[in-house]
Amino acid sequence: MSTDSRYLWQHKDLLGTSQLSVADVYHLLDLARSFQEINRRPVRKVPTLQGRTIILFFVENSTRTKTSFDVAGKRLSADTHALSQAGSSLNKGESLLDTGLTLQAMNPDVIVVRHSSSGAAAFLANQLSCGVVNAGDGWHAHPTQALLDCYSLRTAWDGAFEGKKLLILGDIAHSRVARSNVQLLHRLGVDVRLCAPRTLLPAGVEKWPVTVYGDLTNAVEGVDAVMCLRLQLERQQAGLLPDLSEYSRRFCLNPQHLEHASAAVKVLHPGPLNRGLEISDVVADSPASLILDQVSAGVAVRMAVLYLLATRK
Ligand code: CP
Repeated sequence: MSTDSRYLWQHKDLLGTSQLSVADVYHLLDLARSFQEINRRPVRKVPTLQGRTIILFFVENSTRTKTSFDVAGKRLSADTHALSQAGSSLNKGESLLDTGLTLQAMNPDVIVVRHSSSGAAAFLANQLSCGVVNAGDGWHAHPTQALLDCYSLRTAWDGAFEGKKLLILGDIAHSRVARSNVQLLHRLGVDVRLCAPRTLLPAGVEKWPVTVYGDLTNAVEGVDAVMCLRLQLERQQAGLLPDLSEYSRRFCLNPQHLEHASAAVKVLHPGPLNRGLEISDVVADSPASLILDQVSAGVAVRMAVLYLLATRK
């Protein structure tokens, strides 16, 4: 690897972006870039984590995060094992802690956890001696998603974050992706805007380092990237959105909105997409879309995370 092998990575766990210094973030992104080179080879496997064990403990549904952690571990030659709520003893009433202690007794190097409760990964990290990665906890944080978004934007923006304008659009109240991205990208110098109906803005948003808009055409003016968010209907209380067609009329990103953005605007979405609700088909499938680049970056970033946690001295 071409990155600085003397860099002192001090974290047993990855629970949120706020624990990372800016130097940690750049080290991790540089490492991910070197792993992305492996991902483009005809034989996409190196022995770096041979003999290491990674457990994927997903108590909430996932396609991208779970699969990309699995692929990431296998590309580094680690042994990966998946456990979901369905088919596990959680369904017989075993507690989260007892499940975590049981998994730890198998001596893994890293446990990757997704859970619907905010703080679940931190709770386990405090009890377990192995590394714990937060793969999304409730509305709280999704650090590897923010890091892969950062990786995708760094590539699209030729390495420059300072002064770039990013609009995060949609269901911000329920979004761990928005929280992690605002936290991380603001510290890298990005000017972050939010646009959502008032009922989908989080309590206390006035203390966030962002500018809030209610009108999408105003919000998108001059931006270098738009990150659309999924409308998380499964997490919403009744009454937050009386009318989905009204929501899509006001907040679904379409090509006309992008005419107000920078000429080189990029569009991101963490997935899964509600096409026609928060993002139009034309935008999702346009050359401006980084959606599949984000998925690809996810493998490289998660290789870097697993490497750093599993080999920490
Ligand atoms: N972005 C994201 O977390 O997607 P999955 O829920 O499919 O993992």
